[in-house]
Amino acid sequence: MISKLLHPATLAAQALGWTDGSTGAVVLPVHTATTFERDPDNQYRRGRGYGRADNPTYDQPQALLTALEGGAASLVFSSGMAAAVAVFQSLGRDAHIVAPQVMYWGLRAWLKNFAELWGIEATFVDTTSLDALRQAVRPGRTRLLWIETPANPLWSVTDIAAAAEIAHAAGALLAVDSTAATPVLSRPLALGADLVMHSATKYLNGHSDVIAGTLTTAREDAFWARLSSARSSGGAILGGFEAYLLLRGMRTLFPRVERACRSAQQIAEALLAHPHLSAVLYPGLTQHPGHAVAARQMIGGYGGMLSIRVRDGAQAAIAAAARVEVWKRATSLGGVESLVEHRASIEGADSPAPPDLLRLSVGIEDPGDLLSDLDSALNSAE
Ligand SMILES: Cc1ncc(COP(=O)(O)O)c(C=O)c1O
Repeated sequence: MISKLLHPATLAAQALGWTDGSTGAVVLPVHTATTFERDPDNQYRRGRGYGRADNPTYDQPQALLTALEGGAASLVFSSGMAAAVAVFQSLGRDAHIVAPQVMYWGLRAWLKNFAELWGIEATFVDTTSLDALRQAVRPGRTRLLWIETPANPLWSVTDIAAAAEIAHAAGALLAVDSTAATPVLSRPLALGADLVMHSATKYLNGHSDVIAGTLTTAREDAFWARLSSARSSGGAILGGFEAYLLLRGMRTLFPRVERACRSAQQIAEALLAHPHLSAVLYPGLTQHPGHAVAARQMIGGYGGMLSIRVRDGAQAAIAAAARVEVWKRATSLGGVESLVEHRASIEGADSPAPPDLLRLSVGIEDPGDLLSDLDSALNSAE
């Protein structure tokens, strides 16, 4: 374990510098045991009894994420959705929550279809508008304000510090889905958030081969204890092999995200004047409505995600996606390979995604190859 104060990139590359005490190995083993031996006097002094409650393979990715987010503790879950849903299910009955109109569609669908069954009333607002947020919270009754920034699929930006102030003034918690920002580009807890959630399936793992989710807390309080117990009793646990792969991905988080950011910025700027596009949505562009807030609260870049709107409409967008050769037509984001997706096709009727929108997840390939592939896919309609 390293004790010096080091840059987060160093902590990530060395996964906190942990080595295996018994062998000196610089990579810790995967723990597959589902059960742990009791001491002869019937105690569990080594702290673990059963695999659903805990797994030693979680320790290192949880500790690393806690360090990267500057939090008090973290939990890994079986998916990003499992992590997010655990938060809502732990609020208790009669909770009022506020959520964004523009957010990961799967969570919006869960809130619309299931929140009521858990006694939760959800209000959806434009969280980029602080006035709308102030009007939506109900002092003494709102338990949680959930934001996502930058948010799928328009990459709208919410002011984290201002949202935290509004939430706290109403007696509510602020939770941030920071999946697209990653701990490299954003530290929501330092800006006043209480909880940070990631779909670790995306940038944290980064190789499109693990489904996982995480929560990080600013404080180890009673709500955190409930979340921890929600994971072990609800059983939304990550497998040991997946936890190992997640940590392996996290060790290269910084170079992957830094390169994806640089390429996304370059691609967004190059596409701005493209004759077949009516808009490029990327917080790194000065034209983006969230640019000023993003410039203030993001660190060193604006992320690897952008969207483009195809001038000739939905069919032209789908046709352009059909012609790419380097980009993969697939959902998800944050992997080393670049992905393109016609977003309205997946999000359904109440999606804020315009029908002509293609979402781009920029990977770590050569940005020139990505740009020319996209350019020829857009141009070959001529
Ligand atoms: C921003 C965001 N939040 C949450 C999720 C859900 O995560 P998972 O697919 O790991 O359950 C996703 C998945 O696409 C996402 O993009």
